[in-house]
Amino acid sequence: MISSPESAGGNMQDAAVRVGDPMAEKSRPLMMSGIQPTGALMIGNYVGALKHWVELQATHESFFLLADLHAITVPQDPTDLQRRSLEFVALFLACGVDAERGTIFLQSHVPAHTQLLWVLNCVVPMGELQRMTQFKDKVGRNAANIHVGLFDYPVLMAADILLYGADLVPVGDDQKQHMEFTRHVARKFNGLYGEVFKIPEAYTPRTGTRLMGLQTPSVKMSKSDRNADNYVALLDPSEVVSRKIKTAVTDSGSEIRCDAAKPGISNLITLYATVSGEDVEAIHNRYIGKGYAEFKKNLAELIIDFLGPIQKRYSSIAADPVMLVEVLQRGARNARERSEDTLSRVYRAVGFIPDEGDHRRHSGKRWLSNERQAYIPVPVTPRALHQRRSIMETKETKDVTAAAAAETDAEVECMTDCCGCCCCDTEEECSMEE
Ligand code: TYM
Repeated sequence: MISSPESAGGNMQDAAVRVGDPMAEKSRPLMMSGIQPTGALMIGNYVGALKHWVELQATHESFFLLADLHAITVPQDPTDLQRRSLEFVALFLACGVDAERGTIFLQSHVPAHTQLLWVLNCVVPMGELQRMTQFKDKVGRNAANIHVGLFDYPVLMAADILLYGADLVPVGDDQKQHMEFTRHVARKFNGLYGEVFKIPEAYTPRTGTRLMGLQTPSVKMSKSDRNADNYVALLDPSEVVSRKIKTAVTDSGSEIRCDAAKPGISNLITLYATVSGEDVEAIHNRYIGKGYAEFKKNLAELIIDFLGPIQKRYSSIAADPVMLVEVLQRGARNARERSEDTLSRVYRAVGFIPDEGDHRRHSGKRWLSNERQAYIPVPVTPRALHQRRSIMETKETKDVTAAAAAETDAEVECMTDCCGCCCCDTEEECSMEE
C-alpha cells in the first residue's frame, strides 16, 4: 500500500528524534529530485516521484527541489506561481515528505544552480540538446515560442542534480532521457577537468512511472494539461475524482486486462496497481468476468480513500503559510551550503581564481596574505610570455642529450597549445587536452 498520510503525520512528529547528527546524515547515500510548480500536482507526480521521495528519505540524505526556474520556461502568471509554489510545498508535506529530515527548497533561492548551468553550457554541444525528445515535442507544438530557456532546460536539470552529488534521482519515465543526459554531461566534465561530479542513477521502479491521460491514453498524464479531465489532481474533491474515472476512456471489449491494444483499460489497471500496491496479475484475476463499470467504481473509491487523508492534512498545513516559508528558508540555507561546496570545486577545476568567501568556506578562516599569494597567478603579460619562450629556447639549445631534447620539444608544444596562462604550463595538465 502506498504510504498513508498517517505515516506522514508520524514523520512530522518524531522528526526531531530521528534527525540526529548532521555528520551521520551526510554519510548516508543522497537522493535528489525535483518537481516544477506548474499546473495541478496530480496522481502521476505522486506515483512517479513523490511516493519514492517519501520512501527513500528513510535511508537517504534528501534534497527536494521546487524547480521554479524551470517553471518559467513556459510563461507563468507571477502571483499564480508564488501561490502554487507554496501549495506544492504544503502538498509535499501532506504526502509525507519530511522537512526536518530532508531539505525542501526553491531553485531560485540557490544561485549555484544557474552558476553551474553556465559552466555546463560551455561543455554541452548544441546538437545534443536539439535531440532531446521533450524539446522536440515542444518545438512541434509551439515553434513560434521557442526560447533559449526551453532549449537549455536539460542543462539546468543536470546542474540541479550534480550540485548535490546525488546517488539516486527518483523520477518518472518521461525524465529518463534527461537523466541519461545528466550522466553524460557529468562524465564529459570529469573527462575534461578531473573527477568532480558523482555519476547519478535514475530511480524508476517498474510500475507507475508513466501514467497516461484519462481521456487520451496515448499521451502522458500531465499536471499542465489544459483538459483537467486527463488527470486526477491530489486536491480533486471526491465527486470530481468519481466523475473523472467514470468518464475515463476505455477500449472496445469488456475484459479487465493489460494489453498493448487496450491502452485505456491498461492505464487504469496500472493506476489501480500503484495506488493499491497490488500486483497487476492479482487485479486481472479479481476482475475476471466483471465489467468496466464495476472496476471503475472500485478504482474511484480506492483513489478517494487514498486522497482523503492527504487533503485533510493539506488543509491544516496550508493554513500556516509562515511555517511553509520557514521550511523554504531553512531548505535554502542547507541547499546553498551544499551546492556552493560543489560549485567551488567546479570553479577551481576549470581554473577560476577562488574569491575570499570561497577560501573561507574551505579553510574556515580569513585569507592571510601569503595564502592569497598562492592563488594569485603571475600575470601573463606579452613580455612575460616572451621571456618564458626565450628561456625555453635557450634551454633547448643547451640540452645535449636526445632524451632531454625530446622532453623539451614536448614542453614547447604544450606551451603553444595552451592558452598560455600560468595554470596550464605543466605537462600533466596539458595532456588532459589531448
Ligand atoms: P515535472 O514537474 O514535470 O514532474 C515531476 C515528477 O513527476 C513525474 N511524472 C510522472 N510520473 C508518472 N506518470 C506521469 N504521467 C508523470 N508525469 C510526471 C516526472 O517524471 C517527475 O519525476 N524536469 C523535471 C523537474 C526537475 C527535476 C530536477 C527532477 C527539475 N530539476 C532534478 C529531478 C531532478 C520536471 O519537469 O518534472
